Amino acid sequence: MLGPVILAASRSDAMRRLVSAAPMTKPVVERFIAGETVDEVVPIVKHLTDGGLEVSLDVVGEDITTPERSTAARDAYLELIERLDGLGLGERAEMSVKLSLFGQALPGGHELALANVRPVVEAAARIGTTVTLDAEDHTTLDSMFAIHEELRKDFPETGCVIQAYLFRTEDDARRLAADGSRVRIVKGAYKEPASVAYQDKAAIDKAYVRILKILMEGQGYPMIGSHDPRLIAITQELARRAGRKLHEYEFQMLYGIRGEEQVRLAAEGHRVRVYTAYGTDWYGYFMRRLAEKPANLLFFARSLITK
Ligand code: FDA
Repeated sequence: MLGPVILAASRSDAMRRLVSAAPMTKPVVERFIAGETVDEVVPIVKHLTDGGLEVSLDVVGEDITTPERSTAARDAYLELIERLDGLGLGERAEMSVKLSLFGQALPGGHELALANVRPVVEAAARIGTTVTLDAEDHTTLDSMFAIHEELRKDFPETGCVIQAYLFRTEDDARRLAADGSRVRIVKGAYKEPASVAYQDKAAIDKAYVRILKILMEGQGYPMIGSHDPRLIAITQELARRAGRKLHEYEFQMLYGIRGEEQVRLAAEGHRVRVYTAYGTDWYGYFMRRLAEKPANLLFFARSLITK
């Protein structure tokens, strides 16, 4: 019941100001956000990769309202890539990008987002890595997939995310699997209407498995974005049946969630990538993490009361 309320709050400016300004928010935020600056995130990247994990770095932020903020976001990614170059991690450190941070919702936003993301993808390719386009709410997806297709003409390794809760996703999965794309499959983290998305957890999980099957049997590279133990076990079984070797797909989890499981899977020989978000505009990302697990909200509420 709480999830939808928190997701609605994740898009409220008044709540954003209230939660972001509260000093007691910080310790809770730090569980999910790996620092505010490149200097803070680089040691975390080193720690994770030294431990046998891989990373996908996300400069947090979304729904920006001026073109200047979109170019600032692009520059933040370019600065990050320059720093990653020094670490020599290649594809072990990729980037995740939200096109709404690159101006997708502004007038002329499709072209603006493409113009902003292209130099990031080019810079990533120069240091031997790539970029995955995150999936935001359903109204943004036609534009995201068109940008993904455009970028893949020059950079076929560019990935994208699909969300199991949307009715459209099985068709998207078939197209992307046939095209040989890198695809991250997730359950979906936004508040979506019943006209476009399953609302029931069991229906979402079933759709996830159907999509997983399509991806595993296809030509592309499946990236399984989930912490759900059942889906992780099903992935391993479907990969075995499809004849995929351990490095022909990967698991992905979020920084701060099920860290021991990340290490365990990596020790079994799986590729495990940790989606590592950092930056100052963490509000939307943080609220979605609270919405996914009500216990996080209790932890957060307790920290507000006991300070
Ligand atoms: P589920 O929510 O059923 O959780 C399974 C178990 O994982 C829980 O029982 C709990 O133990 C643990 N868990 C899950 N979330 C937790 C949390 N917040 N705090 C503590 N424990 C938690 N979504 C989207 O719409 N667009 C996107 O681009 C992405 N990108 C993305 C990248 C990666 C690498 C991941 C892992 C996830 C995303 N997501 C996303 C988020 C995704 O849609 C989904 O909301 C979360 O992954 C939670 O779903 P699970 O599959 O983990 O299952």
